[in-house]
Amino acid sequence: MSAAPIIFSGIQPTGRKHLGNYIGAIRQYVEGQERGEPAIFCIVDLHAISVAYDPQELRERVYDTTAILLAAGLDPARCILFRQSDVREHTELTWLLSAVTSHGDLNRMHQFKDKSARQRELVSAALFYYPVLMAADVLAYRATEVPVGDDQRQHVELMREIARRFNERFGELLVVPELLIPEVGARIMDLQEPERKMSTSNASEAGTVYVLDEPEAIRKKLGSAVTDSGREVLRGEDKAGITNLIDILAVSRGIDQAAVEAEFAGAGYGDFKKAVAEGVVELLAPVRERYAELRPDEAALEAVLAAGAEKARAIAAPTVAEVREHMGFVPAPL
Ligand code: TRP
Repeated sequence: MSAAPIIFSGIQPTGRKHLGNYIGAIRQYVEGQERGEPAIFCIVDLHAISVAYDPQELRERVYDTTAILLAAGLDPARCILFRQSDVREHTELTWLLSAVTSHGDLNRMHQFKDKSARQRELVSAALFYYPVLMAADVLAYRATEVPVGDDQRQHVELMREIARRFNERFGELLVVPELLIPEVGARIMDLQEPERKMSTSNASEAGTVYVLDEPEAIRKKLGSAVTDSGREVLRGEDKAGITNLIDILAVSRGIDQAAVEAEFAGAGYGDFKKAVAEGVVELLAPVRERYAELRPDEAALEAVLAAGAEKARAIAAPTVAEVREHMGFVPAPL
């Protein structure tokens, strides 16, 4: 038997998590906390400053995200949930790892290209360095598994490369982590433009279902989801809209896609879309209700984050001390 995985993932502190985030990432976290020893989840507020942001709002969005994760089922007794900026080892390790990070690799990151093209005023060096900080996040915990959405594939590849290069240059110390992408639902598409991923940036309001949407809003968005001129509820190359809806219903009900196709053989798109809407309402309603209870108590959320940071630091600090030592510094500064 293989040892229990050490699971690490990070999530952006944007308040409005959508169905793609929920299915592609958050759901995997909740599943991961049953397997991980430990399972570590980090709200990446340091990453958030790589694009234009408002300091006051940043703090609020961290609370929003903490409350969403707790509402979705993360249990601080069974996982480590913390705020990135509370554990200084992340920033220190970022600099140390930048010595074994190739500038050319950073230049090839799709996310950097996309996000830098969208910045109006400043393309910050932080945006360019984003993947190094992300590598530090994971490598500081010697994590073995990184559950993320499909869009993070290239970043995980890069952190693997950074770990390998570090080990080659300074001695076997870091763990090369494995990417973990959900089998179904890694790419939930926009309901209005099903060729495009559901996303927070450049979102179409009607095409994006938010975790905190009221049932009526969910029904309306699913009701007007773009389909195709055919009539079969089947997955297919030229059926991006229906394929996406099949994925969404399969995940919402915890069944496979073929079972959805079998159930709706001969049904019209209208009935199928209604069923998908009900599936999503049932999936998200409990999360929205618990969120409403948890979000107002910021002191309680702070307490959860503080306890998480302490547990996180206890793992990250010894790793960074060893990295320092291998790189020729004293292990712990005065
Ligand atoms: N870049 C990730 C995202 O946008 C968030 C993230 C930051 C992350 N650090 C991480 C994910 C470490 C996994 C592991 O979704």
